[in-house]
Amino acid sequence: MKGGECKGSYDMNRNNKKFVELIWADKLDRIDLGEKFPVEKPNLPFQTIESINEPRMKEYEEELGKEFYPKSEYPKNYPKDWKNLLIWGDNKFVMSSLIKQGWAGKINLIYIDPPFFTGADFTVRTKLGDERIEKEPSIIEERAYKDTWSGGIASYLKYMYERLVLMRELLAENGSIYVHLDWHVGHYVKVMMDEVFGWTNCRNEIVWCYTGPSRQSRDFPDKHDIIFRYTKSEKYVFNIDLLRVPYKKSSLATGRTTLTGRKDDEYLMALDKRGKLPEDWWTDVATIGYIHGEILDFQTQKPEALLKRIILASSDPGDIIADFFCGSGTTLAVAEKLGRRWIGSDLSKFAIQVTRKRLLDIHNSKDLVDEEQGK
Ligand SMILES: C[S@@+](CC[C@H](N)C(=O)[O-])C[C@H]1O[C@@H](n2cnc3c(N)ncnc32)[C@H](O)[C@@H]1O
Repeated sequence: MKGGECKGSYDMNRNNKKFVELIWADKLDRIDLGEKFPVEKPNLPFQTIESINEPRMKEYEEELGKEFYPKSEYPKNYPKDWKNLLIWGDNKFVMSSLIKQGWAGKINLIYIDPPFFTGADFTVRTKLGDERIEKEPSIIEERAYKDTWSGGIASYLKYMYERLVLMRELLAENGSIYVHLDWHVGHYVKVMMDEVFGWTNCRNEIVWCYTGPSRQSRDFPDKHDIIFRYTKSEKYVFNIDLLRVPYKKSSLATGRTTLTGRKDDEYLMALDKRGKLPEDWWTDVATIGYIHGEILDFQTQKPEALLKRIILASSDPGDIIADFFCGSGTTLAVAEKLGRRWIGSDLSKFAIQVTRKRLLDIHNSKDLVDEEQGK
């Protein structure tokens, strides 16, 4: 953190005693430059892999007891000529090109699960027939797979900052962003997001707790991730009522719940017939290793249930959802199933291939065939 003179025209004044800022090597000085967020924005043609242009299956309707829109119709805000986008490339260039092409302020929800700065090896291990193969990353993919950064944490912070600034610009005024991280860099990125999105726009730090085997024996096994939820402004979409869960048996037995753990009458609340609001810690979403039907042999794949909760909470049918680090395409698959439009990108060709197949499988799924045959 640093303090000092304010030379530029940007209104954040370092003479202000409340001013804090995370600084890393080579960070452009936004105050000296008089620019809110100085980030270069080239406009390059990008490589769109696939565009599937109709809302498809509504797989979750039955489970949620809710029909998103009549079977033969599009959601109201889903233009007929819309094309979903799956783009292969570095998301910095993808996003800056999207901005140059008129997408600023158009995206309703962004979820990202960026590399964690773990030093992990992202060499692709996959199956070809019965044989397990290992594919070394190409030079272009190396950055994504190796997850190592020549300038240490400073280069990671620069990388994240540039991308978060671009994401803010792409977000709609009532939009939300969820950033999935863990203890390695979560604390730095929180401070950075306070700078980019505003401290008061931080809505939640969600803790996703899970369980499973661990090789750690001299530390407590790391079994939680954190997901920062920020909104662009104070006016934002949040459908928490769709996510209500049953109360605990003990609350149901008394018909009441306590606000603070005290027993005084003033702290007792009647139960809501619709169920309980889910807390900001989630223990009911299993990791992908336990969901055999979803496994795509993509090392960092996240479960669909996690994305389902996020997309239902912070978007409406027909909204545009983006994941610029889409990996195996979990966000896009769930968006597709929930009748949302989507934009995805990844630097890895393997990730794009997995995502493309996943989306086409939804598109060609049995439900869809049945629906079309029934016409
Ligand atoms: C942790 S994985 C995402 C996993 C994903 N949430 C899923 O469920 O499959 C991170 C992804 O970010 C991609 N990535 C890393 N740096 C990138 C960049 N600069 N531009 C685009 N994609 C990038 C990697 O190739 C990797 O697929």
